[in-house]
Amino acid sequence: MQAIKKQLTLQLKRNQLFYQQNRYIASQHRQFHNSSLNQSDEIRKIVTSPIFYVNATPHIGHLYTAILCDAITRYHKLNGEQVLFSTGTDEHGQKVQKKAIEAGIDPKKFCDKNSDQFKSLFTLAQIDYDRFIRTTDTDHKVAVWDFWNRLKDRGYIVEGVHEGYYSVNDESFISEKDLKADQSGGFTTETGEKLEFISEKNYIFDIDSRLKKVIESWIKDAIIKPDHIRNKLLDELHTRKSDISVSRPTSRISWGLKVPNDGSQTIYVWLDALVNYLTVLGYPQNMRQNGKEIGEMIHVVGKDIAKFHCIYWPAFLAADDLPLPKKIINHGHWLKNNMKMSKSIGNVIDPYEILKSYGSNSVRSYFLSQGPQSKDRNFEMNDLIDHHNQIICDQYLNLLQRISGKKILKNRTQLQPLNDEQIQYIGVSFESSINELSDQVIKHFEEYDFVSAFTIIEQILYLGNHLLAENQFWNIKENEQIEALLFTTFEILRVSSILLQPYIPQLASGMLDVQNIQDRALINAKVNLKREINLNMLAKEKVYLAKVEPQQTQPQQKNRK
Ligand code: MSP
Repeated sequence: MQAIKKQLTLQLKRNQLFYQQNRYIASQHRQFHNSSLNQSDEIRKIVTSPIFYVNATPHIGHLYTAILCDAITRYHKLNGEQVLFSTGTDEHGQKVQKKAIEAGIDPKKFCDKNSDQFKSLFTLAQIDYDRFIRTTDTDHKVAVWDFWNRLKDRGYIVEGVHEGYYSVNDESFISEKDLKADQSGGFTTETGEKLEFISEKNYIFDIDSRLKKVIESWIKDAIIKPDHIRNKLLDELHTRKSDISVSRPTSRISWGLKVPNDGSQTIYVWLDALVNYLTVLGYPQNMRQNGKEIGEMIHVVGKDIAKFHCIYWPAFLAADDLPLPKKIINHGHWLKNNMKMSKSIGNVIDPYEILKSYGSNSVRSYFLSQGPQSKDRNFEMNDLIDHHNQIICDQYLNLLQRISGKKILKNRTQLQPLNDEQIQYIGVSFESSINELSDQVIKHFEEYDFVSAFTIIEQILYLGNHLLAENQFWNIKENEQIEALLFTTFEILRVSSILLQPYIPQLASGMLDVQNIQDRALINAKVNLKREINLNMLAKEKVYLAKVEPQQTQPQQKNRK
């Protein structure tokens, strides 16, 4: 324990030195870039996930947030837009410090180990990020110190005293209205964490009346989902105390960035963490300042951290004259047995286990199609297994199996455009029905509603399966009719695979390879009865998944160490 404390003190000294050196470098950068803004004029979208605490290993709630961000990013890319997607780990603060000390490991090593777990999980789940940021990264430290100085120079950060009940779990003082009295006469959070009353010297950020107005109109105008959260936020803005404590005494929390020129205080972990969204853009050296466009920020967060993103963050940004986020998507929580997952209750689902058992495609599409985008949702292993077996295997992959057997497909490697008779045979409304459904999917994508979009994609797949069954294609002798059915089924597979890319990137890509499809953007998700289909049946091997037996594959609910 002593050794760890010593390491922490040493680390702090290093931070302070590092800060002093970098303040100079950052100010040089700022001078240079204010005179020559070299960023391209194109507005890009910046999709961010929250950065994850490394006090424990990831659970499915974390995985869900990351998958949702990844799907949103993929949607924008498929829509032909410029997108940057960042994720990462939040490594400073009291709860990480506490766990590192308990584990008897140097905090940085503790963070390295747990941060790597998030990285490897994301690789397994096909999370295709552009930057994995860690708050212990050098460029991030420079950004935080620079940001702090800007806010301080502008008079927004002042010395003060802060009193209240502090939750280590939430890394936040808890508002009086959210305190729950316990039997011993003390207070707990809603989730039962016992709270301690603290009165200490802190630096204070004041959400003054000018900032309050800016935040209020931003909450009213910005795209904040779900809609019903808006009133709660406005209520919080008006009823809360207007100052935010933005530092902690180093004697209590030493694992963090020290306040510039005051080693007795450590920068509040939430201020440190929120600045990651600027670091990934190259702040301070590579960013437009003073209200100019930096791109459209799209933050995806769980509803538990809405306050930090919809009140604190816009206040900090406005204090530095930076543009406010364009969209904040607040999703619901995955529950187990109707309770929030937590290690102490022992109801945590291990994301590695489910990825190993069912594969990333089924897990991703299960989460996205069932996900708690606006409400909480119970996680049921059997729902995931049903999704894997009935939707991914039976409805989607089996559609290819049904038309690609030797008896049906024979040696065909090409299919010609349909003639008028074949179109009559399939039904003249085939094209418009599929295209209407595809349009609906894309509309839902625009709203990031992956749940509703998926139900429509299922309808497209159903039409494909139904067409084969209704025409009893296995009994047909007429070559022209067989080819018409093969053609339309391959079209359904092409259109649905383009639409399924945000859900099942690997399988959808394999399915498109079977037809040598190059144009995979969403605008191509339209039926084309006049194209020539060229098949590459060797690629078929990549689009097979075995079904699983529910009773044999229940992964244990265990905690990873
Ligand atoms: N470190 C902060 C975020 C800082 S962002 C500047 C944090 N980290 S966290 O690890 O506790 O949570 C990360 C994300 O996981 C949050 O969006 C949170 O809502 C989400 N989830 C945690 N548990 C969850 C579920 N059970 N279900 C769905 N998502 C939940 O907060």
